[in-house]
Amino acid sequence: MSDGDKPIPEVDALAADPLARWRFLNARRETVIGAIRARRGDEGDYWTARAAAPGAQMRVDPAHRFPPLDWLLDRVDAETTVLDVGAGWGRFAIPLARAARMVTAVEPSDPLRALLRENAAAAGVGDERLRLVADDWEAAEVSPADLVLCANVLMPLAEIGPFIRKLDAHTLRRCVIILRATAVDAPLVALWRAIHGVPYPRETTHADAFAALDALGIPAQVTLLPSAPIWAFGSPEDAARLARERLWLGPVGRDPHADRLLDDWLVTTLVREGDRWQIPAPEPRQALLWWEKG
Ligand SMILES: C[S@@+](CC[C@H](N)C(=O)[O-])C[C@H]1O[C@@H](n2cnc3c(N)ncnc32)[C@H](O)[C@@H]1O
Repeated sequence: MSDGDKPIPEVDALAADPLARWRFLNARRETVIGAIRARRGDEGDYWTARAAAPGAQMRVDPAHRFPPLDWLLDRVDAETTVLDVGAGWGRFAIPLARAARMVTAVEPSDPLRALLRENAAAAGVGDERLRLVADDWEAAEVSPADLVLCANVLMPLAEIGPFIRKLDAHTLRRCVIILRATAVDAPLVALWRAIHGVPYPRETTHADAFAALDALGIPAQVTLLPSAPIWAFGSPEDAARLARERLWLGPVGRDPHADRLLDDWLVTTLVREGDRWQIPAPEPRQALLWWEKG
């Protein structure tokens, strides 16, 4: 047997164990992004920075419907209790609280909880329908609920086995994990390598989460739904802003070489469609991974 035929234990473990693969993908991503941020002197918590200047997308119009919310609202009535884990600024928790008996929103970030409170007050949703819990899910002490929701939270977490088991243990009827089914950074992969000199460290996806659920013995169903286009903009400046954020470039001028590569990329990639601007990208979809109890 030649050396090339010998099994490589780490690779075998990654191939055989979806939870180890998840851990590896996120550790690799954190290492690469951590090095980029450190080089740029970019420190501090991502959500604190986002909440300091909340854009319109962090405000909640309770009348605004979108496919995953519709899917959830179809499964909620005035008797349903809901647990929203990682509720953010209340995109799901607030409209669900208007339809359900009670929503418990677990959210560890102080600035995001403050936004959630403001958004709930603006939507006329009071404490009797929406209860906030200031904790990580791993530490939160809450009662089980009919519907447990965990939307767009798992992606960066290192350890999802105990996290998912706890979601399952708190579910009375249905648990729903929502994750992107299309890679948001797909248009940026080549530019990432040109700017940072390393391959793009891919994010975990709904497919990785599905494999992890299977490894945990949870037979999830998968529902794919359309989601709002990410790479469509009102102006080229908005396109540059999102690309800068996804590439972790920091303010203009901090890395003139990267700024030049980004400008060149925008000139050759941005397409004008009427009064909108687009970067060609896969059609965005959200995945709902869900299972029922009992
Ligand atoms: C991308 S946001 C999603 C917010 C909301 N669920 C949505 O889909 O609009 C991710 C949220 O997960 C929260 N989060 C991160 N780690 C968490 C943890 N260990 N337990 C609970 N929430 C967490 C963050 O603070 C943030 O609010």
